[in-house]
Amino acid sequence: MSDLKNKNIILGVCGGIAAYKSAELVRLLIKQGAQVQVVMTHSAGEFVTPLTFQALSGRVARDTLFDLDAEAGMGHIELVRWADLILIAPATANTIAKITHGIADNLLSTICMASKAPLLIAPAMNQQMWINAAMQDNIKMLLRRQTVTLCGPAAGEQACGDTGPGRMEEPAQLLKRCITLLKSNQQLSGNQSPGKRLKGKKILITAGPTIEDIDPVRYMSNRSSGKMGYAIVQAAIDEGAEVVLVSGPTVLTAPAQAEFFMVRSALEMHDKVFELIDSADIFIATAAVADYRPVKKVEQKIKKNNTTLILELIKNPDILADVAALANKPLCIGFAAETNDVKNYALDKLKRKNLDMIVANKVGESQSGGNTGFEGDNNELNLYWNNPADRTELRTKNLPYASKYQLAGQLIDEIVLLFT
Ligand code: PMT
Repeated sequence: MSDLKNKNIILGVCGGIAAYKSAELVRLLIKQGAQVQVVMTHSAGEFVTPLTFQALSGRVARDTLFDLDAEAGMGHIELVRWADLILIAPATANTIAKITHGIADNLLSTICMASKAPLLIAPAMNQQMWINAAMQDNIKMLLRRQTVTLCGPAAGEQACGDTGPGRMEEPAQLLKRCITLLKSNQQLSGNQSPGKRLKGKKILITAGPTIEDIDPVRYMSNRSSGKMGYAIVQAAIDEGAEVVLVSGPTVLTAPAQAEFFMVRSALEMHDKVFELIDSADIFIATAAVADYRPVKKVEQKIKKNNTTLILELIKNPDILADVAALANKPLCIGFAAETNDVKNYALDKLKRKNLDMIVANKVGESQSGGNTGFEGDNNELNLYWNNPADRTELRTKNLPYASKYQLAGQLIDEIVLLFT
């Protein structure tokens, strides 16, 4: 196989313990036919020597902006023009911050600023650094750029002894992402960037909770904050989709580029979705819709005269199942939040609701120990779908513990790769 034949890749290596894996990455890229130019930050040299990269890539590893010899050969601007892809692995918090804010004070960050090539970033850092608000803000800002894609970080045991998200994605996984990124870049028409793969598609997304009124002061609802759904809205916008968001009440602000409808109850959400669904290519149901509502809403505040109170509830319509039953149904992607037996319940929903994909999240803790499901900023997702070519073959993919924003991007990546 030579999926990267004639492709020129700049591999940026930053100073972190994962830098030793970059050597393996060079080997894998070259095995696929790529030409690899390693550009190291100063601190990367504390972990791996330039000689290692030179031996593996056949090119002198570059680490200085002001290097007379190097500039006499292929100057840094020529290097920028040469590259089909820039991959930074490992990418430290420091380098990510520099690229986000346009600080060009070393060769690698200068190259990133001067280049129009796709930029694939594989973060690697301590888990606390990764979930730090400054880091997450930088990531959000960075991912709004059309050319930037994130791969990882994976969650698990870290060199520092902590457990959590922050491990660099494995070289084999990064290699796959390079191949798909360059392929999708090639398939795009004209000058479209890889960040516009959903251009021309309309996506309808439900998010947040619904509220079922009991009387004028009381209601039934659930803990959904809307964070997962709103992150998917942003990720779909980042890929050029026209996005319509139908949301239950949340404190979040909908992205300005989305067409936004706020609803309250499951019935209102059902009505709004059916008003809009005709023109949608994809329907993603992240909302935690109340399964039941009171049979009747009491007009006056219920008095607490009795020690017990019986509320009669009636089942709400299933918005997702109803959309998936349409003759001209869009691609239907559902979510399943479960406390136990997650896979079985998710697969049941995939089949029973006639979905194209179900995205399962556990309510509680991920395998790596972080909180998942409702309310938090992070999550872990398991995707299940039937192979579109052979509906009897079940496919599955784990998206490890990460921020909801990042998972949303990865989910959209999967949807693009599988169904568009
Ligand atoms: O909002 P956050 O705090 O970020 O939390 C995110 C989340 C946990 C709410 C989200 O990731 C999630 O899992 N949403 C689905 C919640 C759920 O358990 O749904 P369900 O099992 O009741 O329904 C399965 C699917 O059918 C969902 O896609 C749901 O939107 C849809 N459904 C369900 C009932 C109904 N009456 N109409 C529907 O459309």
